[in-house]
Parts: sequence; C-alpha cells; structure tokens
Amino acid sequence: MENLAPRKEDLEPIEVASRDEISALQLNRMKQSLKHAYENSPFFRKRFDEKGVHPDDLKSLADLSKFPFTSKQDLRDTYPFGMFAVARNKLARIHGSSGTTGKPTVVGYTAADIDTWAGLMARSIRAAGGRAGDILHNAYGYGLFTGGLGAHYGAERLGCTVVPISGGMTERQVTFIDDFKPSIIMVTPSYMLSILDEFRRQGLDPRESSLKVGIFGAEPWTNAMRGEIEEAFDMHAVDIYGLSEVMGPGVAQECVESKDGLHVWEDHFYPEVVDPVTGRTLPDGELGELVFTTLSKEALPMVRYRTRDLTRLLPGTARSMRRIEKITGRSDDMMILRGVNVFPTQIEEQILKCKGLAPHFYIELTRAGRMDDMVVHVECAQDMSGADARAGSAKELAHHIKSVVGVSTRIEVRDPSSVARSEGKAKRVVDNRPKNGG
Ligand code: DLL
Repeated sequence: MENLAPRKEDLEPIEVASRDEISALQLNRMKQSLKHAYENSPFFRKRFDEKGVHPDDLKSLADLSKFPFTSKQDLRDTYPFGMFAVARNKLARIHGSSGTTGKPTVVGYTAADIDTWAGLMARSIRAAGGRAGDILHNAYGYGLFTGGLGAHYGAERLGCTVVPISGGMTERQVTFIDDFKPSIIMVTPSYMLSILDEFRRQGLDPRESSLKVGIFGAEPWTNAMRGEIEEAFDMHAVDIYGLSEVMGPGVAQECVESKDGLHVWEDHFYPEVVDPVTGRTLPDGELGELVFTTLSKEALPMVRYRTRDLTRLLPGTARSMRRIEKITGRSDDMMILRGVNVFPTQIEEQILKCKGLAPHFYIELTRAGRMDDMVVHVECAQDMSGADARAGSAKELAHHIKSVVGVSTRIEVRDPSSVARSEGKAKRVVDNRPKNGG
C-alpha cells in the first residue's frame, strides 16, 4: 500500500502544536463557549442555575467537571429547536440524528458552524491520506444524516472532486468506482462489505480497483474488520468518528500513517471520559463513556454531552491532540448475558477469525424463562456452504466466543447473501425477548 502520510508542512500548525498551546486555546475557548451557552440558550442557563454554577467558575479545564451533563433526552425534551443559542433565522442548516425510537433529535448550524465543520472534515480527509485533486466517492447517506453532506463539504474544502453518490444502489456504486477511478471512498464499514460482494458478483478484482483509502465510520468496527477490508481491496482503511449532537463526522480522525486510534480535534471539542454509572471524570487511559464539550459551536453549543460511546483517552502520536481508542460500542448496545457484558464488536472479532464464515451477521436476543440467550446469525463463506463445513464453522465460532468473550451462544450458520445488507449503519442486534419482563 502506498505511503499517503501528509507532509508536515501541509498540516495546520495547531495539529502539531505543544500541549501547552492546545490547553491554553481550549481554556480560552471553553470560557467563551460556556458564556455563550449561558447567555443565549435558556436551556443551558436553567441547567447551570439549577446546579449553582456560572461560566465565571471555570478557572481551569478541570473545573469543567462542576458543570452539568447534557444528554440525548435533553434534545428530545426540547424538540425541535429548544436548545439553540442563536435566533432561528441565523440557522443555515438543520440535521437530524438517526434515532431508532420516537422523534429524531434535531441539531442546527450557523454559516460559521458549517464553515468550521468543512475545515475539520478537510483536516480529517487529509489525515486519512486524501489530497487536493483526488476523486472521492462519498457513499455516506445525503439528507438529514450528517454523514453525506458533512463529508461532502470537507472534501470540497480540501479540493477533491466529489462523487456525491450517497448510499444504496450497490450495483451502480461499483460501476462508478470502476469508471471514475476514485482514490478515496467514504462509507460505513458494513456497507463497504456489500460493495465488496458486488465487486465479486460483477467479476471485478477489488484489489485492482483505483481505491487507495477508505474512510470508515458512523458505526463501531474492529481492527479485525480493518484487516479484512485492507486485504480485500489492497487499500488503507482508517476510522472516522463523529456524532450529530456535537457536529457530525470529523470530531475525531485516525491518521493513515499510524492507524492507532482517532485524534480528537481538540481545538474544537474538549473530550472527557467518565464512569458511565457515577459520572465521575476518569483519568486518561481508563475505559468509560466519552463526553464532549464544544469549544466553538454557535448554533448548538454542547456542554458535557454524554455520547454513550465507550472508549479511553490516549496521548497524541502522529498529532499532538489526544486520541480515542477505537470505540468498543455504545452502552445502549451492550448485552448482559449471565452477568457478562457483551458488545457486537467482540462477536465481529471472533467471526473474522473463522475462515468458513463471512463477516455478515446479526445477534438475536431471546429469553427462555428468566435467562437471556444469544443467537449469532452469520453467513458461511461462499466456498464453505456444505453441511459439514457449516457445522465445523459453528463449532469453531462458539468455541472462540466462549473462550474469549466468556459466554455460551447458539450459532446459526446461514446461506451466503441471506443476512440483510446495510446501506448505512448496520443493525447488529435484534431483540426478540418478550416485552414487560415476561
Ligand atoms: O454517525 C456521524 C458520522 C458520519 C460519523 C459518518 C462518521 C462518519 P450520528 O448519526 O449522530 O452521526 O451517530 C453518532 O454513531 O455516537 C457512535 O455511536 C456512532 N459512531 C460514529 N462514528 C463511529 C466510529 C454519525 N468511527 C453515533 N466508530 C456515535 C464507532 C461510531 N461508532
């Protein structure tokens, strides 16, 4: 694979600034941002007053822990525009979060917010190995979802030629990759697997494609999956993280030269990791729930937003800004089986160890009596569909899951192409447990 690391002189100075410079900038911006939230958003003023804190109480970055948390429920309770800190006519754009239940959560941006976002996305694509002049195939969904337009503006800002294909119509995705010869693709990792299947269906060798780097995010994925995609396409696979409540894609980005976790763009977002139960701020290096405070957002400043994403903060490497480890999963997706915490990413990792299986899967939760049970539905590899091979693969996977994750599971090895394909975020867990605790 080609060395795509950007030249040092192409980086923004803040990306490689000293920690002292970064902290000083953060403190300065945090003071302004808390003041803006307090003075212009009745929601935040009420919250701060209830907790008995005032923006002037922030003397150091550590003082942030005195301020109240914000959650997705707050956005729901104030739907649609109740948390905004600017007049409605100052909003240049609205996006929504892909809520699975009830009303979506709505977020808004001023023109300056969109401009900042485009700059951070351009920085992210550059860190991933993109350059001005590259053709970029953008298969993140366009619409209320922040993925499509967020990536689009950043790619244009960097000077790429954008193919705004959005998600879906997989056959056409492959045709356009083959015809336009993009060097970059932006898409969810699960949809990249559907694109891989389609390459093979059309008789095209994915390793011969023009793609040099894929920028994958919007859902949890593992280093094992990185290996699978890099091997299949002979390309770099790097991770991009973000969430609409904080901005969208481009809150944190993995560098192509290190692939060791995602650098949080700390000049605009202040990260904390807290104990998900007590809310106590944890020291760097400890696993917990990621929390963000925005440092420059106008329309929707966020104070200590609880992402529900589980990870740990690590020191900077390729850039000065701290990294987050690849996200383990969302606390919402955590399953508890006989006292053991299980995440879909752990199952993905074990599936990818089994040669006889394809990485298309979902987890079904059932309940017999008082006990929760887990069934892993996974496809067999194309050339491993005989009854004996399937039985062997099922046994192998059950063994890996038992010995590494620590739970007993039932494995259903299914026909190739029988597990529904995602065109965006994959749905990994199907909960068929009876409701009302029955
Ligand atoms: O998914 C923004 C995005 C678009 C990120 C494209 C990257 C690429 P939401 O729809 O608001 O926004 O969902 C945010 O998705 O809290 C995580 O749970 C999950 N997520 C996003 N990126 C990653 C990642 C977009 N790289 C929620 N790894 C977040 C794991 C991710 N989970």
